[in-house]
Amino acid sequence: MDNIPNLLKEHYDLDATNILPQRGGWAALAFKVYSGKQAFFLKAYEKSRASTPKWTALIDQYVPITVWLMQHSGLKGKLPVPVPTQTGAYKCEDDEGIYLLYEYIEGETIGEKALTARQIAELSNIIAELHLYGEEIPVETTAIKEDFTVPFLPQLRVALDREVCTLPRDLKELITPHLKQVEELADTVEKLSAELKNRNLRMALCHTDLHPWNLMQTDRELVLIDWEGLKLAPVEADLMSFVDEPYYDDFVPIYRQVHPDFAINPDVLQFYRYRRKLEDIWEFMEQLLFDRQEAQERAETLNHLSRELNEIRG
Ligand SMILES: Nc1ncnc2c1ncn2[C@@H]1O[C@H](COP(=O)(O)OP(=O)(O)O)[C@@H](O)[C@H]1O
Ligand SMILES: [Mg+2]
Repeated sequence: MDNIPNLLKEHYDLDATNILPQRGGWAALAFKVYSGKQAFFLKAYEKSRASTPKWTALIDQYVPITVWLMQHSGLKGKLPVPVPTQTGAYKCEDDEGIYLLYEYIEGETIGEKALTARQIAELSNIIAELHLYGEEIPVETTAIKEDFTVPFLPQLRVALDREVCTLPRDLKELITPHLKQVEELADTVEKLSAELKNRNLRMALCHTDLHPWNLMQTDRELVLIDWEGLKLAPVEADLMSFVDEPYYDDFVPIYRQVHPDFAINPDVLQFYRYRRKLEDIWEFMEQLLFDRQEAQERAETLNHLSRELNEIRG
């Protein structure tokens, strides 16, 4: 990542006076970039990571939609503001990575903290507002439309069915006792996937990655960040993140003010829940199978995977 100052100059005409690594998320590295008095947030996806193509493939499709929302919906100020390159693109790249630049949000990530009543109300309003928009918006949404395919499922199947004997020993030992459960989960997801493809479900814009590490509190408002997962999908894709939360009963009445007729479709909810579970399992497996990791990092990934596997029937 030594090339970042050059990259910032070349693509954004920024003279970086300081570049500080930040606590990143799960998928990307993060830096706070100072240029004179301005501060920016740089998200860097390393090309060496197996998950990068998945997270970066749709940048050119989803960022313009967030920009449209920022300009035309009640979400202004509640979304991160992307900084375009000099040619008007929303990403740039070099040999090592793919980069997105945002205005820096001065605020605190919610993370482990419990949401306050006010934050719950703000969050519910954000999601309700987002779900008002769908394919009628004047920005192309075809690329982000849910088709209920589960792209990682074939790879997961191969790793489980055919290649279990060739898996690295630590991974094999961890996964073998849970093999049947994971396969059943995959069967259910596959069945639901086939069934939902044939249903005519209402779709709206959904964030699909709603958790407190993607929420920041500024001195004015709650900001929902990390829009990589933006989809045109049944609203269960978002609501699944709330149904088990202790604050769900406070969330719903506010959401219902905007969507009085909403009702959760149990099949769709189950599809999203199970798919997320499988996806988390697969992402940890993918790291263990394909990413270059230090011993410590590998041990952590094994721990995370172990927790996911033990929770399957939870
Ligand atoms: N524009 C921003 N300004 C300041 N901090 C940010 C900004 N965007 C994200 N962050 C911080 O960086 C963390 C990771 O960013 P996020 O976009 O969620 O990346 P990931 O896709 O890796 O999860 C967030 O939890 C938040 O603390
Ligand atoms: Mg995140």
